[in-house]
Amino acid sequence: MPLLTQTKAWQALAEHSQQVAHMRELFAQHPGRFDDMSLQAAGLFLDYSKNRVDDKTWSLLLQLAEETGLSNKVKAMFQGEIINTTEHRAVLHTALRAEASADIRVDGVNVVPEVQQTLAKMAEFVGALREGRWQGYTGKTITDVVSIGIGGSFLGPKIVSEALKPYWTEHLRCHYVANVDGTAISEKLAKLDHETTLFIMSSKSFGTQETLTNTLSAKDWFIRAGGSQQDIAKHFVAVTSNVVKATEFGIDAANIFPMWDWVGGRYSLWSAIGLPIAVMIGMDNFRALLQGARNMDNHFASAPLNANMPVIMGLLSVLYSNFHQAQSHVVLTYDHYLRGLPAYFQQLDMESNGKHVTLAGEDVDYATGPVIWGGEGTNGQHAYHQLIHQGTALIPADFILPLQSHNPLGEHHAQLASNCFGQTQALMQGRTLSEALAELSSSTLDAKDKELIAKHKVMTGNKPSNTILMDKLTPATLGALIALYEHRTFVQGAIWDINSFDQWGVELGKTLGNDVLARLAAPQDATELDASSNGLINLFRKGNI
Ligand code: F6P
Repeated sequence: MPLLTQTKAWQALAEHSQQVAHMRELFAQHPGRFDDMSLQAAGLFLDYSKNRVDDKTWSLLLQLAEETGLSNKVKAMFQGEIINTTEHRAVLHTALRAEASADIRVDGVNVVPEVQQTLAKMAEFVGALREGRWQGYTGKTITDVVSIGIGGSFLGPKIVSEALKPYWTEHLRCHYVANVDGTAISEKLAKLDHETTLFIMSSKSFGTQETLTNTLSAKDWFIRAGGSQQDIAKHFVAVTSNVVKATEFGIDAANIFPMWDWVGGRYSLWSAIGLPIAVMIGMDNFRALLQGARNMDNHFASAPLNANMPVIMGLLSVLYSNFHQAQSHVVLTYDHYLRGLPAYFQQLDMESNGKHVTLAGEDVDYATGPVIWGGEGTNGQHAYHQLIHQGTALIPADFILPLQSHNPLGEHHAQLASNCFGQTQALMQGRTLSEALAELSSSTLDAKDKELIAKHKVMTGNKPSNTILMDKLTPATLGALIALYEHRTFVQGAIWDINSFDQWGVELGKTLGNDVLARLAAPQDATELDASSNGLINLFRKGNI
């Protein structure tokens, strides 16, 4: 396979992408653009017509997908090949939501039965908690669940659970602790009763400092409040692939939910890591979430490249990152329940595609993963949208809107939708100087002022956006939406020839952090590191500046 930048499609795109007409013109030339450049899959609708692409751009992007072997890479992932080559692991979050009858093999063993057994164990636990059958050591019903985990063992459960609030049981509350800052756990525990609280400790590795420290503090709190070592079995469960370590830590073997090394942390909410979600929305709804993701998996695995939602979104991202120098991508959710989703996609995409070498270990000579950021519409319109509209950086945007609200209230939802659609329109069409002058025609300003203000009102437009719609935010549509972004991330990584499934970049900081921790507690000041690190450590030891 030729190097990415040597492919014919790449070279043609480098030239062609600069020659595509302004989107205003593209829409004027082709009234059928919306119909031709929108599609539905798995309960989602994608309008990608407001992008800097014409027919030739599409054929070149599809050629790029072919020249880089995208279809074979997709197959390899679904079939459980060892595509996470630096960790020698298969990448099978799709097996977590596969049909019970599926046969997906890792090292010759079908992993689906184990997945199904774990779902059954989850169902038993979730049923017992929700029906009040799981009681604490004093016989009281559990009322509060505290999920302790970080990264992929935190953000997915928290954000999905938050997004599905309309489906929550009224009998339980779920709290999350991730940060090792003692304030995070102290603030939570202060409001809880140890007799009615259950902790879910989520750590794939069972070796993450923050999670271990928070769990130890939770255990201390429980014992100090009157619980005994034996009572821990009724108040602590764990989700981990490291059963030995969890048992050594004191978690009852019966209370350990397994996960597997072929599930990446940031792709793990579909496994028992999703327990806090299942506790709050119930197992039927959790299974609907899996079904929604499976629907998107089936679409991704089978639809032709030119009608494949994750492929289209992935190729567009490559277009902007590599041929229009976009360094970030914004996700704007027009639904209050989805306000946390940009942070989830940020973790998913940036931990996956923030890579600087190819699979073969060669330095890339092209941009890889952009910065992913975003927030809740309409709030952002009164803050950072200004820069998206008139700043000098090109920031492709995704707008996400359910057509029906869970909380219909007067004109609220129509206003929300009008803002969403109005923003995509403004980004696309912009405002020319003559339009700005025309708007000022009836103003009392003098001609010079009018001209000055008009210049400031000019918006170049031609700013790309995708709009994703769904009927309503449900477990199934949310499952499909998250799977869409998982696969979009995969498509980009596949084109860029990088490993989207390891995360070596986070390791050095962890190692150095442990070294610093020892120096903070050492009897003497730090002298052996660089001057800045020594200085900061010694200030901390002193306790004041
Ligand atoms: O530090 C990054 C990371 O390894 C993530 O990839 C992972 O989701 C998170 O830490 C937590 O890891 P664990 O589930 O093993 O505690």
